[in-house]
Amino acid sequence: MSAKVAVLVYSLYGHQVTLSKQVEAGLKAAGVEYTTFQIEEILSEEVLTKMHANKSLTSDLPKIDPETLTQFDGFVICTGTRYGRVPASVSAFFDKTGGLWASGRLVGKLATLVTSTASQHGGAETTALTTVPFFAHHGIIFVPLGFTTPELGKVDEIIGGSAYGAATIAGADGSLQPNEADLKVAHHHGSHFGKTVAQFVAGRK
Ligand SMILES: Cc1cc2nc3c(=O)[nH]c(=O)nc-3n(C[C@H](O)[C@H](O)[C@H](O)COP(=O)(O)O)c2cc1C
Repeated sequence: MSAKVAVLVYSLYGHQVTLSKQVEAGLKAAGVEYTTFQIEEILSEEVLTKMHANKSLTSDLPKIDPETLTQFDGFVICTGTRYGRVPASVSAFFDKTGGLWASGRLVGKLATLVTSTASQHGGAETTALTTVPFFAHHGIIFVPLGFTTPELGKVDEIIGGSAYGAATIAGADGSLQPNEADLKVAHHHGSHFGKTVAQFVAGRK
């Protein structure tokens, strides 16, 4: 039985949709089964309209519910940054997992995080770091990307990714799109995480 990974996407302007597709391709290349879900929106229609958010970017995806997490060996959370941490909707989803925490049903699963920021030093790394407590309390093992691909050492162009995970820089108005290096890093992140989860699952048998 191959390892199973859930890709959880929260995206209002499309950057995480683009990166998650690369992650999916990387997971596939690693021979891992994956299912992609949307993380449910908690902001009102009025607020979303004021934010110029695209409300339908992930509407074709099933909504993740806490219980479904138990069917997977690993999770890739693909989410934009808010004030250097995950958005309220992502945090609200975490809050719904209390029952799983109480029964220890996510202990020993693996997780990793892909993000994006408006600016170059807008908090991609802090978004990963501030999500580690959620993983720790559940006994979920956080898998960082490390400097496992030379793309992460690039200084000749602006890139989003770091040792904490793939990322991209969206620009203040969201008009920048992931560049070739960002796309490669996201693909590599999927493949790296997929291989890590597969090794872990094989070792457990
Ligand atoms: C309320 C709010 C807070 C944000 N906070 C940050 C931030 O702390 N640092 C940053 O660089 N970008 C910040 N951004 C920009 C988002 O991170 C960016 O729009 C997002 O990564 C784009 O991903 P998406 O296209 O998948 O939605 C913020 C955006 C909003 C709406």
